[in-house]
Amino acid sequence: MILFKKAADLRKWLETQRKADLNIGFVPTMGALHAGHISLLNTSKNRNDITVASIFVNPTQFNDPKDFEKYPITIEKDIDLLEEAGCDVLFLPSVSEIYPHGIEKAGHFDLGYFETILEGKYRPGHFQGVCMVVQRLLEIVMPHKLYLGQKDYQQCMVIGKLIELTGLKGSITMTVCPTLREKDGLAMSSRNMRLNEQERKTAIQIFKTLSFLKENIKPGNPDSIKKDANRMLIQAGFKPDYVEIADADNLAIVNDWDGKQKLVALIAAFLNEVRLIDNMLLN
Ligand code: PAF
Repeated sequence: MILFKKAADLRKWLETQRKADLNIGFVPTMGALHAGHISLLNTSKNRNDITVASIFVNPTQFNDPKDFEKYPITIEKDIDLLEEAGCDVLFLPSVSEIYPHGIEKAGHFDLGYFETILEGKYRPGHFQGVCMVVQRLLEIVMPHKLYLGQKDYQQCMVIGKLIELTGLKGSITMTVCPTLREKDGLAMSSRNMRLNEQERKTAIQIFKTLSFLKENIKPGNPDSIKKDANRMLIQAGFKPDYVEIADADNLAIVNDWDGKQKLVALIAAFLNEVRLIDNMLLN
């Protein structure tokens, strides 16, 4: 695996590969890698000539400074994992490589509705930060294919919108890969590393609640089932930010389900200090 720290060096190297007609797959991450990331990497490896991964804990996407401070960093282990998985290139930039003109000048993105709901509503500014970093990473890597995890369902939609807004729709194909889960159902996430033993046991309640929604959703207004789900989380010791049921294609909140529309249930909830999110397609 070749490690690049400078955007200009990586760009130059990738240019040579593109000239040789090689296809580039890209897996952006914030490190603290787990099997979910490695599955993205494997998908990219199977479908491209070269796979680039990046590790950058992006300060602009943390609306909560405590969350940023406590975000797990396991860089040595990450490098080993990537190497074992056969990653071709790791981009490990500093803040000034990503934001050479400063954070304030990194632009604003018109994300419309997405910024008013779910993560957009509960984490103000979060998606602006995600778009800033992803735009910059795409500008540097210029991949043919981009691989993201379904675990961050709304983020996938936002990045889809970013690709449209930046006119990259024809040149980059985004693939959303399924969420990987632990044996008991807990969605793999870097933030799971912050859970203590007791919290780790409780954490599966999010998966159980999503499964409850999937099993019990009926045509009509889903308010009462959402209330039941909310209660289940609170009883387990969570402080939910939201339990929502939305159109799986555009995230419009569903108030009257016709029994056919494709649905996704989405949950964000705090377990003490740690905020977990997960989602499940319902039909
Ligand atoms: O999902 C993540 O890890 C991050 O939000 C991403 C896409 C790497 C941007 O920092």
